[in-house]
Amino acid sequence: METKPGMMPLLDGTEIPRYGFGCYASYGHEISQAVAWALECGYRYIDSAAMYANEKDVGEGLRLAGLDRKKVYILSKVWPKDYEVAANSAQQSLRDLGVDYLDCCLLHWPGTEEKRRLSAYEQLLRLKDQGLIRSVAVSNFQADQLERIKEVFGAYPPINEIELHPAFQQRELRQFCLDRGIALVAYSPIKRGAFMGDPRILSIGEKYGKTANQVVLRWHLERQQIPIPKSSHYDRIRENFDVFDFSLTPEETQLINSLECGGRRGNDPLTYNG
Ligand SMILES: NC(=O)c1ccc[n+]([C@@H]2O[C@H](COP(=O)([O-])OP(=O)(O)OC[C@H]3O[C@@H](n4cnc5c(N)ncnc54)[C@H](OP(=O)(O)O)[C@@H]3O)[C@@H](O)[C@H]2O)c1
Repeated sequence: METKPGMMPLLDGTEIPRYGFGCYASYGHEISQAVAWALECGYRYIDSAAMYANEKDVGEGLRLAGLDRKKVYILSKVWPKDYEVAANSAQQSLRDLGVDYLDCCLLHWPGTEEKRRLSAYEQLLRLKDQGLIRSVAVSNFQADQLERIKEVFGAYPPINEIELHPAFQQRELRQFCLDRGIALVAYSPIKRGAFMGDPRILSIGEKYGKTANQVVLRWHLERQQIPIPKSSHYDRIRENFDVFDFSLTPEETQLINSLECGGRRGNDPLTYNG
């Protein structure tokens, strides 16, 4: 059994750690400290975004941890209202984070205007040519939008970061991505703690000495989707990463699969424009 996350190869020839740390909705020293703790615990992928309005603090956390830049996968995102100036937005993220390249930059949401979406993607590809971004990818994209990227730019985005957890499994979109080699990053992977008291997941956890959140995070790993749980508490950051020493049986996996109920937590990408 693996004892740490390992790397997942991507369509564009790069690779991404199989486990990440979310940075949404914490600010100042709290998120700097959380990022530093996460890196100390072994997380190697930091999921940031211009929209989170904390990239300077995230950058401070990277410096606090003091790891070699090449050892950390840093991902940021451009927000739809900035798609006309996507290159500027990504460069501002670089400055705020205090790094000289991003491992990955995503279009945060498809938005409702295709022309702006495609223009933003093209601008990020130019930054990739300049060596400022290693991978250009997307978040919250639907199958037809992924196809359109392939049609226009000749390749699928290597990553689609989408909401995924037992209550909202996006089975069709997930399969579409897996069939085409598009890596899935699972955001809100524990649905912000929604499964903590679920007796069915708790009873699986009891068998392994794990919490319900740990069981859900393990379920993600075994489905080849990269979870990026966020916490600002040291004990939870550690707990969420302590998922590499057990595996679920097919029956346990089946039970968690059966919790699908269309329970989306966030926005609907078909209508949301940022
Ligand atoms: N691309 C997108 O559109 C998009 C959208 C949403 C999120 N994201 C990314 O995905 C990351 C994770 O998603 P998320 O933040 O929405 O939700 P999440 O990771 O499922 O849950 C985070 C919440 O759960 C709490 N929590 C974390 N670990 C816990 C534990 N072990 N026990 C009890 N409570 C725990 C945290 O509180 P404390 O901090 O107080 O511990 C926080 O309120 C974000 O931070 C962001 O990087 C991306």
